[in-house]
Amino acid sequence: MEEELLMIPGPVPVIPRIREAMSRPMIHHRGDEFAEIYEGIVENLKNIFQTKNDLFVLSGSGTCAMEAAIGNLIQRSNGRGRTEMACITVTNGKFGERFKEIAERYGEDAVTPAHFEWGQPIELERVKEAVENSPRPKVITMVHNETSTGILNPAKDVGNLAKKHDAVFVLDCITSIGGDEVPVDQLGVDIAIVGSQKCLGTPPGLSAISISDKALDLMRENPSRPFYMDLLAYKKSLEKRQTPYTPALPLFFALREALEVISEEGMERRIKRHRILSKAVRAAATRLGLSLFPKLNEVSAYSNTVTAINLPLANGITDEQLRGGMRKRGVIVAGGQEKLKGKIFRIATMGNITGREVLRTIEVLEEVLLENKVIEEEGIGSGEAKKVLSTML
Ligand SMILES: Cc1ncc(COP(=O)(O)O)c(C=O)c1O
Repeated sequence: MEEELLMIPGPVPVIPRIREAMSRPMIHHRGDEFAEIYEGIVENLKNIFQTKNDLFVLSGSGTCAMEAAIGNLIQRSNGRGRTEMACITVTNGKFGERFKEIAERYGEDAVTPAHFEWGQPIELERVKEAVENSPRPKVITMVHNETSTGILNPAKDVGNLAKKHDAVFVLDCITSIGGDEVPVDQLGVDIAIVGSQKCLGTPPGLSAISISDKALDLMRENPSRPFYMDLLAYKKSLEKRQTPYTPALPLFFALREALEVISEEGMERRIKRHRILSKAVRAAATRLGLSLFPKLNEVSAYSNTVTAINLPLANGITDEQLRGGMRKRGVIVAGGQEKLKGKIFRIATMGNITGREVLRTIEVLEEVLLENKVIEEEGIGSGEAKKVLSTML
């Protein structure tokens, strides 16, 4: 079967040695071998997260860990009485809003939104106001790399704000950890989350979550913690180097191999590669006369793992013509989500993607733009991409 080239923000292509790691026989999940595998995974992930906090691997995608974080922190109001805390949800895209939706399930009256339009940068002053005007700010949520719009949000600034107000800072790093610099402890992040199918280059189905003592203390006060995703149960099981319920073993085998791939590459080189790949995409798109979707200020930056580009292009080429044309040529890029459907397309450069694959993507984009008379000659965008990619050597 000829493989399509997946340039979407997860699931990302999984290289053969990681895929093959999944096909080994099952083992006893309460035995020594699993204990060693789990311990190794946790230690490696703690290094990548740059955290001394506890870290657990959940058999569930990124949203599972997002809900675990909120569900363990916020006491359910159950429609009876008030939720005794505020959750400030900083949002400027789909995934920031997901945190808000989750928090509303657990305590509608708990949520104080600091809302920005999709694609707009975070304004720190307004976040500060939301925190200061809230009588009981206990939790602040934000997405680090907002995949829906291609923005990298200011984690350090919001981390400082959380510290000042003694709030627990929950940061969705689902599409940044493993591909970008995310020093969790230095940033003042209490809960950090990564998804397996993004920059770690593993198949979908796992997430990892690191949790500070401050966050664990808040969880201990919460009698309405979820059962399956009770993070204190994860903590207790970790002492035995186990998970509380049956782990998705083949995915753990894959994750172990993926972390081995990462350590062979080295995080510094891996981050540099991600930065160069996304820079190549931005440079090529701009050189082709396309505009990037985010409008940034000094605290927000372009994502180093996904690039969002505006549609429609010069002569009104549609999303279907653009992405459909690329799909016919074997390259899959993502469209816009919800209100950005048909308005942007997104090229992800996450995981074990190579310069050659980025170049192929740009060449195919050029072919489609030429076919639809958006550009008059091929080679300009790919030439620009090549220039940037040559800095990887
Ligand atoms: C920033 C961000 N947060 C959360 C999610 C949801 O993760 P999952 O689909 O693994 O549940 C995604 C998925 O794309 C994401 O990009």
